[in-house]
Amino acid sequence: MASVYVFDAYGTLFDVHAATAGLRESIGPQADRLSELWRAKQLEYSWVRSLCGAYRDFWSLTEEALDWAIARTGPLAPDMRAGLLEAYRRLDAYPDVAPALTRLRATGARTAILSNGSPEMLAAAVAGAGLGPLLDHVLSVEAAGVFKTDPRCYGLATAAFGVAPAEVSFQSSNRWDIAGAARFGFACVWINRSGAPEEYADLPPARVVASLAAL
Ligand code: LAC
Repeated sequence: MASVYVFDAYGTLFDVHAATAGLRESIGPQADRLSELWRAKQLEYSWVRSLCGAYRDFWSLTEEALDWAIARTGPLAPDMRAGLLEAYRRLDAYPDVAPALTRLRATGARTAILSNGSPEMLAAAVAGAGLGPLLDHVLSVEAAGVFKTDPRCYGLATAAFGVAPAEVSFQSSNRWDIAGAARFGFACVWINRSGAPEEYADLPPARVVASLAAL
């Protein structure tokens, strides 16, 4: 059994669609589309900026992505933008997160988050979900100045624990993140929460599970 478990944050531990879901009635029928576009643009901005060497912190990208998604889906009531951003800072953790981390730590495993999120975003999310005591490290790619899937990001985890990539079990629900982490040499577990189809066939996870309960 691996002794170092590293987790992606958004989509894996925290439900990125919870912000919009909580305000669904005020947003109206476009709520789901708004949430999908917000997430897709946020990720696109991270990849484009990594490729052209124009890093900006993930919170700025999250704000810009929301503005684009609102512009695309139609105007919202005043204060809704601020409400959505505030909700994003306090996203719900999935119910399987704390039990899985507790169980792993009871076996002596060490645990961390490795996320594109800025340190402030991650601190707020971890505190809101009460996960602080269950994590040895909360690692932001900000220290590398580039976003996943750049290998320098995954290297933050091996450096923090002083281990080789193959000694790390890396969990993400984002298949693109699993591709990058597999390329880096982590033993990867794809948490396929949404039943998404397989992709990146040449960069596979070691395991695919439906939730963290299977760890
Ligand atoms: C993370 C996002 C991108 O790194 O899922 O937490």
